[in-house]
Amino acid sequence: MDVHKEDTEAEGGGELLRVLPPEQSASARAPWVAVIRRLGERHRGRIARHLQALDERDRYLRFGYLANDAQIQAYVDTLDFERDAVFGIYNRRLELVAMAHLAYSVDKSYDACAEFGVSVLPSVRGHGYGSKLFARAMRHARNEGVHLMFIHALSENTAMINIARKAGATVERDGSEARAYLRLPPATFESQVTEMVEEQLAQTDYRLKVQAKQFWDFLTGVQDVRRGVRDARHKSAS
Ligand SMILES: CC(C)(COP(=O)(O)OP(=O)(O)OC[C@H]1O[C@@H](n2cnc3c(N)ncnc32)[C@H](O)[C@@H]1OP(=O)(O)O)[C@@H](O)C(=O)NCCC(=O)NCCS
Repeated sequence: MDVHKEDTEAEGGGELLRVLPPEQSASARAPWVAVIRRLGERHRGRIARHLQALDERDRYLRFGYLANDAQIQAYVDTLDFERDAVFGIYNRRLELVAMAHLAYSVDKSYDACAEFGVSVLPSVRGHGYGSKLFARAMRHARNEGVHLMFIHALSENTAMINIARKAGATVERDGSEARAYLRLPPATFESQVTEMVEEQLAQTDYRLKVQAKQFWDFLTGVQDVRRGVRDARHKSAS
């Protein structure tokens, strides 16, 4: 068993310890173990919080302009989870640390095209989350019959251009902007099964995270009550 002290401040002789089974302990803490799940209607609030946590430069890189909080909120409010695909990575505190939006064209004559946008919180960058979201979106797009996936990035956005290029995208620079597009092969039985299994695993992982967080909050509550009782005893004794 691996005993892991929670980030919560522990006071007065008692501290909450998280005990993880050995086979989970390393991966549960390793920031590069990312489980990607599809996001839906009830994740809207967390998506807004994630995007509004980005600083000015990141907002500029993500949206192509310096989006303020209200503009981000408007973007989140209009996300269409039925038409598009939105993917996310949650940490164990259920904070959305990374997300990607695969947007399909509203114009039916371009229904074989989709555009990819992504953001990863600075604290977890460089662990491959951006690349994994890109690969996940590619698999999904392919299974949905998309032939061309577009990425609109500023030329200075080396990280994004790297991700697209490594996945085989053609990158065309035009002044301060870069347009990248990726030709996707047709779906196969294997690509469809892989995506189904991936999504099942991601949903199980999310349910476990929700349970672990709820139980952890419960234990923290118990700890607070114990602390209150102890403080009251100390006061009445002195
Ligand atoms: C672009 C972004 C999503 C990358 O996320 P990430 O999780 O750090 O990406 P990865 O860890 O998968 O790294 C991707 C590649 O870029 C490289 N990279 C990462 N940060 C870099 C940086 N600041 N400068 C140069 N290269 C960088 C990595 O080394 C990696 O290349 P490698 O596989 O050859 O090592 C993230 O920086 C971000 O959210 N930026 C703000 C929003 C944005 O720019 N979105 C893209 C436009 S839609």
